[in-house]
Amino acid sequence: MRAIVIYYSLGGNTKRIARLISDRLGADMAEIETVQEYTGSYNDIVNQGQREVNKGFMPDIKPLSVDLSAYDTVILGSPVWWYTFAPAMKTFLSNADLSGKAVYAFATNGGWLGNTIEDFQNACAGADFRGGLDIRFDTKTLKTPEDKIIKWVDEIKNK
Ligand SMILES: Cc1cc2nc3c(=O)[nH]c(=O)nc-3n(C[C@H](O)[C@H](O)[C@H](O)COP(=O)(O)O)c2cc1C
Repeated sequence: MRAIVIYYSLGGNTKRIARLISDRLGADMAEIETVQEYTGSYNDIVNQGQREVNKGFMPDIKPLSVDLSAYDTVILGSPVWWYTFAPAMKTFLSNADLSGKAVYAFATNGGWLGNTIEDFQNACAGADFRGGLDIRFDTKTLKTPEDKIIKWVDEIKNK
């Protein structure tokens, strides 16, 4: 298995989980970053995020320096933004060819996962989507037991 964790993280929670997963799996890691930074207060960003999600807006993202064809397994990670994955992940998925790959997804959130996992599955056309994990935070505090995440990763490893 050649695996890569591809994630977007505005505040660091998703990045922390991406690290945990890639360490455990021995996988590479790549971060999706927007060209334009989100600025303003947390509430400003929450409101901007709502407008973007409602419109299906896809912000420009920096090119990822990874050759996806080198991997057979992709683990996607995003925070939940208004009950789905973040707009930057939408940009990435709309341009990426994941067909034929085993794809997993995880979503960090504050308790309202919404349709995020189904949306991931629908956005990965042609991929062998193998399931998602709901990872709960209370602001910066991880609430989902780390054991549960490790178990999920070990199942990926043993497939
Ligand atoms: C624009 C925006 C929208 C959000 N919408 C939701 C939501 O719909 N449901 C939820 O549980 N948490 C929501 N959150 C909280 C984040 O999903 C949560 O804090 C996440 O762990 C942040 O990950 P990050 O630190 O990697 O950016 C939202 C946060 C932001 C900034």
